[in-house]
Amino acid sequence: MPSTLLPFAFFAALVAGQVCDLQFDARVPDDLGVAGLDGVNDVFSNAFVIGEGLQFSQVVQLPNVDQALFDVEATIAVEVTINDDSIFNGQTAFRRAELLPASNDGADDSTVGIKSIHFSVMKSDARPLNLSHEYQLAFLETADFSATQFTLKTGTILGVQTADPDTLQIFGNSNDNLLLFSAPFTPGVFHNFALTLDFDTLTTRVFYSQGNAALKSMGQVLVNDVSGRGQFHFGLLKKPVNPGADITVEGDQPAGIDEGIIFGSIFQEDTIVGCISLSP
Ligand SMILES: *[C@@H]1O[C@H](CO)[C@@H](O)[C@H](O)[C@H]1NC(C)=O
Repeated sequence: MPSTLLPFAFFAALVAGQVCDLQFDARVPDDLGVAGLDGVNDVFSNAFVIGEGLQFSQVVQLPNVDQALFDVEATIAVEVTINDDSIFNGQTAFRRAELLPASNDGADDSTVGIKSIHFSVMKSDARPLNLSHEYQLAFLETADFSATQFTLKTGTILGVQTADPDTLQIFGNSNDNLLLFSAPFTPGVFHNFALTLDFDTLTTRVFYSQGNAALKSMGQVLVNDVSGRGQFHFGLLKKPVNPGADITVEGDQPAGIDEGIIFGSIFQEDTIVGCISLSP
């Protein structure tokens, strides 16, 4: 088959279902437990991003939910939580706790070629978010920290009209801020995503499903500047309301926070030969 001449969409459809090479696997083995996240481990960074003085075993919980779509026999969902102490790097107007895949140091191969980042996200019944605020749930941030190449958000998004804050919305590069995808943030079910990021032609394609349903393409390959390398983040970055000129330190962030978000089956596939898994 003269595959290199085929349009990507056609080629990807042909090879769906086959086992693709993994760039990283951040599915959490049940025997790692939350205590295993405090030391150096193969799944997530034990250094970033977390409130000063906190350890990951204090902010990650094991929720009582079904496995996400691509979790395998011995891997489990985790709940990332924030509280009033979730102040990272002097950013006093943010509350943050995010998981970064261990091998993704910002200059590794997860941001070259064509890669598909997979993750599943579910609301926490026990620790609901405050939808008056904007939350970043998953994003790729450039290595120089100047932009995000994509961001999954929920809540009241600053700077744009939010028709319904109870929505999952994926925005493209933060310099352009184009909406790539949105769906109601239905409770009690995993929302499954795969984003195919082409770091050569600078495009993004969104795949989505709920629960155990296979992923489906949500449309065409979209022009989106994914250059700048960097790191993938999964968790909560809660922004303030009424932000000042420097949003990281100016804005209203009420006390008494106890909020969480559930993630499952985070991994990245190499899509350089068109390979993407749409179901396990
Ligand atoms: C939600 O956030 C708004 C804006 O910061 C605040 O006024 C309100 O009290 C918060 N609600 C809860 C239940 O914390």
